[in-house]
Amino acid sequence: MKKTLSQIQTKALSDLESVSSSSDLDQLKSQLLGKQSPITAILKEIPSLPLEKRAVIGRLANTIKQKLTAAIQDKYAEIEENQLSLQLGQTTTDTSLPHTAIPIGTLHPITQIITEVVSIFNRLGFSVKEGPDIESNDYNFDKLNIPKDHPARDMHDTFFIDTDTVLRTHTSPVQIRTLLAQDPPIRILAPGKVYRCDADASHSPVFHQVEGLYVDTQVTFADLKGTLTYFLHELFGPSKKVRFRPSYFPFTEPSAEVDVECMQCHGKGCGLCKQTGWLEILGAGLVNRNVFRSVDIDPNQFTGFAFGMGIERIAMLKYNIPDIKLFYDNNVQFLSQF
Ligand code: PHE
Repeated sequence: MKKTLSQIQTKALSDLESVSSSSDLDQLKSQLLGKQSPITAILKEIPSLPLEKRAVIGRLANTIKQKLTAAIQDKYAEIEENQLSLQLGQTTTDTSLPHTAIPIGTLHPITQIITEVVSIFNRLGFSVKEGPDIESNDYNFDKLNIPKDHPARDMHDTFFIDTDTVLRTHTSPVQIRTLLAQDPPIRILAPGKVYRCDADASHSPVFHQVEGLYVDTQVTFADLKGTLTYFLHELFGPSKKVRFRPSYFPFTEPSAEVDVECMQCHGKGCGLCKQTGWLEILGAGLVNRNVFRSVDIDPNQFTGFAFGMGIERIAMLKYNIPDIKLFYDNNVQFLSQF
């Protein structure tokens, strides 16, 4: 029996040698150690052996079983390692290949201009204030000194929600909200969407404005000129000429429109500036005394200036964009240029 055991061991170890796949090894494992295996048969026979042999054969059979179990484990590890190195040998990595480009988004040009405008005025101590897109007639018109029967209301092409409520036609109602909510000194900037029933290549029913308001004691037209000239030089470049033209807005008195030297022809006259050499950028003026009265601020104690600008218009001039609709089509090829 000892001899049989040692033969079992020799044969098993040599069979193991020749196995090279884990599925073959699974099969061999059950042949060597399973219920039908020679070693199991011997272990079953042990109880019927003469007493003096039982211990010797028993110990030997168990030792062999353990040896085979260990040898099978080692073989599994060996097969796995071979497979891994085979795989690694086949896959080569070419680190010189260009990677797949992942497209990176860009900020919308309108967002970029708003951010730039806000950051210039931030440096002058202006902070951002926002108001609702749906606004009362009172804040959008009445308190801004635009009476009900005034022709200025027609200029605004208003979308009405009902008789008392409108989609704001400009960001100027944020002036009223701010003046009602806080005491001077006030330095705010109000970017946001505005709505007018108007559409062509340079007008959209929804567009963006940035409003500014500065109120303190002794604010003068010279402050307005200095601040806006600084702003326009920051935005368009310090060499650009700036001019203030008398104009009219119900909520400012006196009022001005502010022009910048045409960025295409440098003032010589071209299609963009309609041969004038100038591009209109801003509306502005000193806060009308009636506006102060409508929010219970004493116009003899405080003065201020306000201004408003259309962001799409600035972007169109700055980047020479022919049609306002390009801003809203969300064509990635167009947007990624900025
Ligand atoms: N609210 C005016 C407009 O929409 C612009 C403006 C704002 C003018 C503030 C003067 C002062 O045209």
